Amino acid sequence: MVTTFPQTHHFWRPRKQFITYALYALLPLALLHYLLFTPLPAPKPPLLVPPQAREGAEIFVPSQHGDAAVNARQELPPPPPPDQGQGLGGGALGETQAGEVSASPPCDYSDGEWVPDARPPLYNGTSCGTIKDGQNCMAHGRPDTGYLHWRWRPRRCAFPAFSPESFLRWLRNKHLAFVGDSLARNQGESLLCLLSSRSRADLLYRDGEDNKFRRWVFRDYNATVSIFWSPLLVKVAEKAEQAGVRHNNVFLDSFDERWMSQLGALDVAVLSVGHWFLIPGIYHDGGEVVGCHDCADLNHTETAFFGVFKEAVHRTLAEVARRHGADRKVVAFTTFSPAHFEGDWDKAGACPKKQPYRDGEKELGYTETEMRKTVVEAVAAAAANAGDGPLRFAVLDVTKMANLRPDGHPGPYMRNDPFAGVEDARVQNDCVHWCMPGPIDTFNEILLQTISG
Ligand SMILES: *[C@@H]1O[C@H](CO)[C@@H](O)[C@H](O)[C@H]1NC(C)=O
Ligand SMILES: *[C@@H]1O[C@H](CO)[C@@H](O)[C@H](O)[C@H]1NC(C)=O
Ligand SMILES: *[C@@H]1O[C@H](CO)[C@@H](O)[C@H](O)[C@H]1NC(C)=O
Repeated sequence: MVTTFPQTHHFWRPRKQFITYALYALLPLALLHYLLFTPLPAPKPPLLVPPQAREGAEIFVPSQHGDAAVNARQELPPPPPPDQGQGLGGGALGETQAGEVSASPPCDYSDGEWVPDARPPLYNGTSCGTIKDGQNCMAHGRPDTGYLHWRWRPRRCAFPAFSPESFLRWLRNKHLAFVGDSLARNQGESLLCLLSSRSRADLLYRDGEDNKFRRWVFRDYNATVSIFWSPLLVKVAEKAEQAGVRHNNVFLDSFDERWMSQLGALDVAVLSVGHWFLIPGIYHDGGEVVGCHDCADLNHTETAFFGVFKEAVHRTLAEVARRHGADRKVVAFTTFSPAHFEGDWDKAGACPKKQPYRDGEKELGYTETEMRKTVVEAVAAAAANAGDGPLRFAVLDVTKMANLRPDGHPGPYMRNDPFAGVEDARVQNDCVHWCMPGPIDTFNEILLQTISG
């Protein structure tokens, strides 16, 4: 039995991470499993409301807060010159394509704050039919609406209001795919809803099993958006508890061809994975078991999931670069999206906050810090290797901004009317995914700046 990983990257495992892991994950682990494995509800019709319904939604509605925000923005220092902020974060990735002139300097969108914003969201659960049931908070009776009225304001650069038209124009004759776990799906559905506030999307394809693979086209723009299920990016035999298989079998040396084989047809791939690396897994490489996570009963060596995550991310980006041809392509990677469980996951107050944290009020935890850092560093390395070629790598560095939004999760409103007939208020809570509309829409606002920058 081989118990060490090949040394392409360092698998380091300080004692501390186990403690943090325990704090982070053990309490809600059962729920995490539940949330990450629950199949999608029966598909809704791919009804997306046509543009007329949302006429005027982009008009800025001034308010005290809004005015303050606008005024404050005008007082910001000018953006840094283009040679600053190179390296990690958005800076290295705002480079222009060869031959293009870009007016906007690179920006670190992760550095900023949430400010009040009076404008209504571009969509809601009534106007957009692609919101997964568990994230349709308003429709499920979430009574407070304050979480809908915050806008992300990067500290050092302009961040124009999201324009579905701009996104669609950029996406004309192109194909953008979200690849990853249920947070990739969450982000993909958010983009679908944002864009369909202006143009009708038609569902072209949906695979039989749980809606895991879907493709839409905005015919007015011949713009295609798709979602690929690939919770670890590499090949995985997902566990099947009913069949007595408690662990995912993860194959670090095999790629998930369900999306990898489609790479040639994509103009943009947005990758988003992380949470599945926290759940029990057995890791295979070169035909052997090289470690496992949360599997004491199987006589394999416990392996830190950070190392496995790093391996999977680096190998995937390297493979994307290896397979890439001469066409232009953007590969964006969304960083880890923090969960916000505060207490018992099956009590009413699991993520009870109604407002964002203020700047500095909530530091990033150890797990979130490490998961984010892995992606930021892997993307920077891939971008450096790709140079000025047609393949661009970008990081959507959302971890810090998401960490400040404990108010943006469904909590009990993952279900319709959760407290109806419940006496002791023990209900399941989702403090992992994001309500739609909600903070995850901002991820796509940054995506627009990233791909068109
Ligand atoms: C949802 O959006 C539709 C269309 O813009 C609007 O008419 C309706 O008032 C919105 N509903 C809520 C609850 O905001
Ligand atoms: C429509 O978009 C696809 C990419 O999704 C592209 O391959 C195709 O050439 C486009 N069609 C036209 C007529 O431009
Ligand atoms: C693990 O090792 C112990 C002691 O060597 C053995 O008794 C047990 O059967 C092994 N379990 C498995 C699942 O192989």
